[in-house]
Amino acid sequence: MTTTPTTTPTTGLEPIDRGAAPVDAGAKRMINARADVNQLLPLKYRWAWDKYLAACSNHWMPTEVSMQADIALWRSPDGLTPDERLLLTRNLGFFATAESLVANNVVLAVYRHLTNPECRQYLLRQAFEEAVHTHTFQYVCESLGLDEGELFNAYREVPSITDKDAWALEHTRHLADPGFTTGTPAADRAFLRDLVAFYVVFEGMWFYTGFAQILSLGRRNKMVGIAEQYQYILRDESIHLNFGIDCINQIRLEDPDLWTDGFAAEVRGMLGEACELEVAYARDTLPRGVLGLTADACAQYMRFTTDRRARQIGLAPLHGERENPFPWMSEAMDLGKEKNFFETRVVDYRTGGGLDWD
Ligand SMILES: [Fe+2]
Ligand SMILES: [Fe+2]
Repeated sequence: MTTTPTTTPTTGLEPIDRGAAPVDAGAKRMINARADVNQLLPLKYRWAWDKYLAACSNHWMPTEVSMQADIALWRSPDGLTPDERLLLTRNLGFFATAESLVANNVVLAVYRHLTNPECRQYLLRQAFEEAVHTHTFQYVCESLGLDEGELFNAYREVPSITDKDAWALEHTRHLADPGFTTGTPAADRAFLRDLVAFYVVFEGMWFYTGFAQILSLGRRNKMVGIAEQYQYILRDESIHLNFGIDCINQIRLEDPDLWTDGFAAEVRGMLGEACELEVAYARDTLPRGVLGLTADACAQYMRFTTDRRARQIGLAPLHGERENPFPWMSEAMDLGKEKNFFETRVVDYRTGGGLDWD
């Protein structure tokens, strides 16, 4: 049952409270804050500020990556097998609009309801990075001479992609309502569902199998330009994911009553549904598999990743999948970067602009 919020959370656009005292860090809250959200200092959530700094030091642009080898391979009649071409177009077809869906959720839903300036500072950086990622797919499309409509309309034409995107959008529907505000348990849980759907599922589960598919091709020296761009995107996304996880865990810490057993079971169910959707997509993308990559291996990787995400937000694993079929993903990328505040309290992001895992 929905109850009416007792106070409207601050947006930052209210009339100025003339002569009021400076913000007390202790009054800052993740959601439903009444402290002025226009005052960044004093910091309360150092982990959010550190992620903003790490993200800024990871700056890159897709046009810095040469596409010459990819163009030659794509145009060569024998360069890629039909199954590799299907994998590539399905993969790009998912990401081309997925980046926009995530960006729209950040800007139009999450930003409004996350009432904390250091988190908002990070969201502004994330929003820019999502624009860079969308730019990547424009650049790939233009470089390879792909059919624009086929690539960017895939999310409305390829059912296994549509099913994933529709599932995620269902979880942001409430927040997109202009009349929605947090401040009741039901509304606060709706906000948490959005964070789970977009940060944990979209960016933390679906993107990771997508990265694994392209990096698997790259490991066989195929489409190396796209593979390098995906490495840069993965580096960004690992921070997006961990920011989302830290937000969820911090909100839970500030309002433990929200995270009831029933709600935990619901969130766990969301992760299970998302895993199934990804398995269906993998079968659609790799009907016969390609060298070094099968739909079964992608399904196993998804189950492994789902369990890891569940643990990161304090839930029991769903599948008990202990073996990572793509250890090169884990060794080279996942585990080294996947540090979030609540797991390790260590921030160990690199400070240069280039990749360091080749
Ligand atoms: Fe992205
Ligand atoms: Fe992202």
